[in-house]
Amino acid sequence: MMATRGLRANVRASTRGALSSCRPGRTIVSVQATADKSVFITGGNTGIGYETAKALASQGFRVTIGCRDAAKADAALARIREFVPSAVVDFVPLDLADLTSVADCAKRVLDSGVQYDVWINNAGVMACPKMSTAQGFEYQLGVNHLGHFALTNAVLPGLQAANKPVRIINVASAAHLFGKIDFDDLMRDRSYDAWTAYGQSKLANILFSYELNRRLGAGSPITVNCLHPGVVKTELGRYMQADGEKTWYMPLALEAMKLFMLEPAQGAATSIYLASSPEVAGDTGKYYVDCRRATSSNDSYNRETAGRLWQVSQELTEAALAAPAAATTATVTTAAVTTEAA
Ligand SMILES: NC(=O)c1ccc[n+]([C@@H]2O[C@H](COP(=O)([O-])OP(=O)(O)OC[C@H]3O[C@@H](n4cnc5c(N)ncnc54)[C@H](OP(=O)(O)O)[C@@H]3O)[C@@H](O)[C@H]2O)c1
Repeated sequence: MMATRGLRANVRASTRGALSSCRPGRTIVSVQATADKSVFITGGNTGIGYETAKALASQGFRVTIGCRDAAKADAALARIREFVPSAVVDFVPLDLADLTSVADCAKRVLDSGVQYDVWINNAGVMACPKMSTAQGFEYQLGVNHLGHFALTNAVLPGLQAANKPVRIINVASAAHLFGKIDFDDLMRDRSYDAWTAYGQSKLANILFSYELNRRLGAGSPITVNCLHPGVVKTELGRYMQADGEKTWYMPLALEAMKLFMLEPAQGAATSIYLASSPEVAGDTGKYYVDCRRATSSNDSYNRETAGRLWQVSQELTEAALAAPAAATTATVTTAAVTTEAA
């Protein structure tokens, strides 16, 4: 589609630049140009998502970022084009905190006719104060899990129709290790702790990855993997800083922690590896850390929890889109979470 000889030369130089800062011991990602491949990345305007988008554009991927802020998206695309002058990059509006926006994004993707080879659910929020999405979901579960759950399922028929290998990659976190899915209080209305809610949402990312892989079945050309990117110097701590009253010491603590954190380009390494390395072609239903297979928590392998979460997520997201906005919150939070596992 777009890989030219000039691009290939550029690719080799620029990808080396993007990845050479990987920590020693990290697998070095293939630097060959990947012509005629397309990738969609949620939250590709900053942090790990931006570095992933930039590196894959360098490899020759056509890159689409899903982004909630048009100005930020334009700025990110301009920076990528500056880095890779021949990059083919664009953006689709996407606010994962509003399922109407999620549905609109999915429709645009399907209508575009672009047959994505790689789909990366990367966007995320962490440790927010108690907040709700447009449909009344707890914000971290809503953005990190339910938004991505609805988006992925909505575009899945398009990914399947291509009948070619497609890699779905979910950016989870080691924070899933302290996560629990509380089906009695999924929205954490009874008692809210920002980290518990983050852990729950990241465990949900992994349960979703494993369950989607099982539902696709053996022999599907679509693979689904998830990952922990490391502890990375990004804007993810923005809500911790915003909660000034409780965490007056947090800006100082964060500055100190940054000394030990990975740069965003290093944090993107596992996403890039899973998106483009021939080493993982066909690998599916796995969790990766540092470009290597890893074991996730015991809870993440619980099939009953995964099946129940899938069913509840489906009911919550479908009900939210079907119901008039004002009626949505009360209906979905009580009725669906008591549903038994499929
Ligand atoms: N950084 C780490 O140490 C670390 C560790 C483990 C896991 N992770 C995971 O890595 C992923 C990327 O995080 P990051 O560290 O790169 O953080 P980041 O710099 O804050 O980037 C997060 C991205 O998500 C987007 N986003 C947030 N809310 C959204 C919404 N409602 N709709 C659409 N997009 C939204 C942001 O867009 P805006 O710019 O518009 O806000 C941004 O593009 C997350 O899933 C995170 O949980 C990160």
